[in-house]
Amino acid sequence: MTEDGAWQGYRSFVVKRKEPESETITSFYLAPEDGGALPDYHPGQYLGFSLDVPERMTPVIRTYTISDSQARDGCYRLSIKREPAPADAPDAPPGVSSNFFHDHVEVGSTLQVRAPSGDFVLRPQGKGPVVLLSGGVGCTPMIAMLNAVVDAAAERDIWFVHGARSGAEHAFGAHVRAIAAAHDNIRAHICYSQPGAGDVQGEGYDSAGHVTIDLLKELLPNTGPQFFLCGSTPFMKSLYNGLVDWGVDEFQIVYEFFGTACELRDRPEPSAADKAAEMGLDPDTRFQVEFRQSGVTAEWTPAAGSILELAEANGVEPDFICRSGMCHTCLSTCLEGEFQYLHDDVVEPMGDDEVLICSARPKTDIVIDA
Ligand SMILES: Cc1cc2nc3c(=O)[nH]c(=O)nc-3n(C[C@H](O)[C@H](O)[C@H](O)COP(=O)(O)OP(=O)(O)OC[C@H]3O[C@@H](n4cnc5c(N)ncnc54)[C@H](O)[C@@H]3O)c2cc1C
Ligand code: FES
Repeated sequence: MTEDGAWQGYRSFVVKRKEPESETITSFYLAPEDGGALPDYHPGQYLGFSLDVPERMTPVIRTYTISDSQARDGCYRLSIKREPAPADAPDAPPGVSSNFFHDHVEVGSTLQVRAPSGDFVLRPQGKGPVVLLSGGVGCTPMIAMLNAVVDAAAERDIWFVHGARSGAEHAFGAHVRAIAAAHDNIRAHICYSQPGAGDVQGEGYDSAGHVTIDLLKELLPNTGPQFFLCGSTPFMKSLYNGLVDWGVDEFQIVYEFFGTACELRDRPEPSAADKAAEMGLDPDTRFQVEFRQSGVTAEWTPAAGSILELAEANGVEPDFICRSGMCHTCLSTCLEGEFQYLHDDVVEPMGDDEVLICSARPKTDIVIDA
């Protein structure tokens, strides 16, 4: 660990406080067990966790955004939504990590934590207006960004637009309202898709329904601001496409997935030559990939994409969540040969032979334990 608190790999943190923010979201305040300094970070960045979940043979790896703009009282704050089984698969097991946090992580618990990272960040002193658009627990980076603007007494115009199901599931409502009331440059609009009996329009929320592009057209003066987007995939897809169709420059829209990453804009599939060029390879490059547990061997070319995509195209079905090198759900062992990551944002596993197949390609013929 360096003097300013920066660290490599995992560091032990102790939970100092645990506080509900809504019926489904709870905040956890974490301080380093060694009592050392905490490095600064950019609002919107996240921490990586390796969790020892009861009855799990291997650590569960997950990432959670720091839901405040700076460490306060020596603590980073996380705000975690309890994930139930999906409505369309009620018999599926509920979310492993989020339920572990809610049910087993208490004041005094220790957690293994990786240093802040991520590039979904706001520079509070940057130029130009900003729209922070979130759905559900996608509010966590937006709260960090909003607080950073307030901390910096920045004068840029901010719209905080948030969708929640109802008051019962709405986190940080009073905090955001108080900030908007106290700052002329900050405006907030809250939508409830299913307001509860006790929810009062004009108090807890501003309009019933979802956050839609039509609402944004009413709220915003023009297509000029920079847009930050975080929520469910349908939320992000509908707003991203609505904004682009309205005339917002795609470079002005930045977003972060909390679940499986996907293309937000429907585009033609890149050609084999384009994919190869992006990897700096000849389109005719070929490697054999053996998925040993499955008894499948397939030929990889740049057009096949990641090792995970090659597996899926050949009837092998490894687990995955984020498909972007962050959650470690697709972690596999490379038994023979070499691989290379396809982008720089991968949170690399500890072992040299461990590979996140969603974000890797072969560099030689390889054998994967999947
Ligand atoms: C950069 C980043 C930042 C994040 N920040 C936050 C944050 O600030 N706050 C926050 O709450 N989350 C955040 N997340 C999401 C978080 O990392 C976890 O993905 C989330 O908590 C769910 O993890 P889990 O282990 O609880 O659920 P998982 O166990 O991963 O399950 C996910 C869902 O799949 C369902 N499921 C499981 N098995 C099946 C099956 N067989 N069939 C059908 N469905 C199934 C579960 O019921 C659950 O609904 C962030 C994610 C990223 C990538
Ligand atoms: S699926 Fe999340 S790291 Fe590969």
